Amino acid sequence: MQKRKLGNSGLEVSALGLGCMRMSFGDKPTDKQEMIDFLHKAVERGVTFFDTAEVYGPFTNEELVGEALEPFKGKVVIATKFGWKHGEKGPHPSVGVDSRPEQIKRVADASLKRLRVEVIDLFYQHRPDPNVPMEDVAGAVKELIQAGKVKYFGLSESNAEQIRRAHAVQPVTALQSEYSIWWRNIEAEILPTLDELGIGLVPYSPLGRGYLTGKIDENTTYDSTDIRNRNPRFKPEAIKANKVVIDLLEKIGAEKAATPAQIALAWLLAQKPWIVPIPGSRKIERLDENNGAVHIELTSDDLLNMDIKRSGSQPSGKGQAEYFTGNVRIDPQNQAPAPAHVSIASVTFEPGARTAWHSHPLGQTLIVMAGCGRVRKWDGPIEEIRPGDVVWCPPSEKHWHGAAPTTAMTHISIVEQVDGKSADWMEHVSDEQYQADENSQ
Ligand SMILES: NC(=O)c1ccc[n+]([C@@H]2O[C@H](COP(=O)([O-])OP(=O)(O)OC[C@H]3O[C@@H](n4cnc5c(N)ncnc54)[C@H](OP(=O)(O)O)[C@@H]3O)[C@@H](O)[C@H]2O)c1
Repeated sequence: MQKRKLGNSGLEVSALGLGCMRMSFGDKPTDKQEMIDFLHKAVERGVTFFDTAEVYGPFTNEELVGEALEPFKGKVVIATKFGWKHGEKGPHPSVGVDSRPEQIKRVADASLKRLRVEVIDLFYQHRPDPNVPMEDVAGAVKELIQAGKVKYFGLSESNAEQIRRAHAVQPVTALQSEYSIWWRNIEAEILPTLDELGIGLVPYSPLGRGYLTGKIDENTTYDSTDIRNRNPRFKPEAIKANKVVIDLLEKIGAEKAATPAQIALAWLLAQKPWIVPIPGSRKIERLDENNGAVHIELTSDDLLNMDIKRSGSQPSGKGQAEYFTGNVRIDPQNQAPAPAHVSIASVTFEPGARTAWHSHPLGQTLIVMAGCGRVRKWDGPIEEIRPGDVVWCPPSEKHWHGAAPTTAMTHISIVEQVDGKSADWMEHVSDEQYQADENSQ
């Protein structure tokens, strides 16, 4: 297995790590001994980077990884995470976050025991804590490093400002955030920040939680313990809307004699030399398949062909609720010369691309210019719309629209300007609002 360095830190790991979460959390329960054997096989195959967290289980995933990797102490890198508040049954995302320095230190001591190591190789903050300044978090980890209990500091799902503030106190080795060909929110601001600061990226869910393997369709069912049951991206409608990505992976894969999973991972590896994805798997044939990605070369032409950019406006900054894929190009036309006047924009959706649920303060008219589109109003069915169709979305009525999976569509949207500012024609939906909307559906 090839090796990669995580940023400027000097931490060297296998080019693909292994996400261990689903061995004890968020997926069908597993047999512990089987997982220990599986982890040994992963080491035999050259994997040296293993990802766990206090919250996975909680605790049992760290215990499993600690027990399985004890014979390889010092030869493998184990990354774990702190940062969730403890409830009656231990830490859980539903209880909230807790990155108070005293809590970070308590978690470090407990994780050291469960992992059966003297030093935690890479200690990530799992989620930013709005009540604790990043400087304090970084300061606590710095003290743990000085005490010899932690080697490297990591963050997860932090924004650019949080990364900078933490990095100024204690250099950050890696950011762990979701990144894959269908989830590219970090490209605009985070990737350039990491590049500038010399911080590595560890993309989590690099296979789109299994979706990018092409083995999941709208009829797939999940174990009752599987967190995909609650993820809007795994609703049949989203599965179908995003199929364009799988088609693309299959097309490039056919040219390279590779599987969609391999192309999805090769795409990530090709983005930057300091990116180390951590696909999760619990089956040896899948691990071998995924590891094969390190031998796949994607040319710049391949990468260009795979460039499903989400240029233009994004419906929401980040968050699980959003699924919005494909190339959505916004070509402003006839921008209003003065505030409070109508502006018109032409928007092109590539096959399958669609927006998240959104609304417009003054309503929106969709005029289909070409291709075949789809629109869905709140509580309504998905409707096909064809050239010449005019669809009126009344003020504040939530809807989504986009292109049919097989044909491109252009529409013109009309919005007025609000308070002297151009109202973003594709209104941003906050994560909280979006989640609330999804839950109320
Ligand atoms: N920092 C964070 O907040 C955060 C959040 C989520 C995850 N993570 C980390 O990232 C790791 C990976 O994320 P993830 O597990 O959510 O998603 P993932 O790696 O994108 O996908 C894992 C899923 O894909 C399946 N799979 C893997 N290889 C396959 C193949 N070749 N063919 C068919 N199916 C395949 C796995 O099934 P089997 O397991 O059955 O093989 C599993 O269901 C986790 O283990 C965890 O360590 C971190």
